[in-house]
Amino acid sequence: MSDAALPAQASPEADILSALGIRSIVLVGMMGVGKSTIGRRMAARLKLPFVDADTEIEAAAGMTIPEIFERHGEPHFRDGEARVIARLLDGGPVVLATGGGAFMREDTRSRIAAKAISIWLKADHDVIMRRVRRRADRPLLQTADPEGTVTRLLTEREPVYSRADITIASRDVPHDRIVDETIETLYAHLCGESTSQPPADVASAVR
Ligand code: S3P
Repeated sequence: MSDAALPAQASPEADILSALGIRSIVLVGMMGVGKSTIGRRMAARLKLPFVDADTEIEAAAGMTIPEIFERHGEPHFRDGEARVIARLLDGGPVVLATGGGAFMREDTRSRIAAKAISIWLKADHDVIMRRVRRRADRPLLQTADPEGTVTRLLTEREPVYSRADITIASRDVPHDRIVDETIETLYAHLCGESTSQPPADVASAVR
């Protein structure tokens, strides 16, 4: 039999894509948990476009996020963020990385629930602090006590992030390992099976 006559090779990625239909994959979670890095790799694996909500907000506003906060304030940023995410969800399926505060809005959560599968990348305080120290462009962390601010934001936000469809533990292991776990968990969530036995030390939690 020639190769052309063989059936297309089934793969978890292909099954995920067909189970998704027109729905997107939306990554939520705190600043510094790796939503863009993991999202970009997930998109490449699934052969879907990757979009970063923060980048799209900056393009729509014609200014950077710190500039939006400084000139117009956080409520204005949040309204723009909700509008941009609504538009991006209408253009699915995509893999969408959202800014850390986006999932806190009820209207955005409802839109995500209707049009996407949500994934919370969950990292602990120390991992977040180590990562956010590398960049100074997050207006919410320009405070006298960034550690205290992260603690407060985690307390406020974690109960809300936990409403995402899937939770994945983001930690200091190679990115591809987190991507593998996310694909595996997504497959189990959408297709009702596991692709393989998860490694014993995997701390990812699935709901
Ligand atoms: C924010 C997170 C940022 C950005 C803005 C506000 C937040 O995005 O949207 O600075 O409220 O947590 P990242 O989570 O991509 O850093």
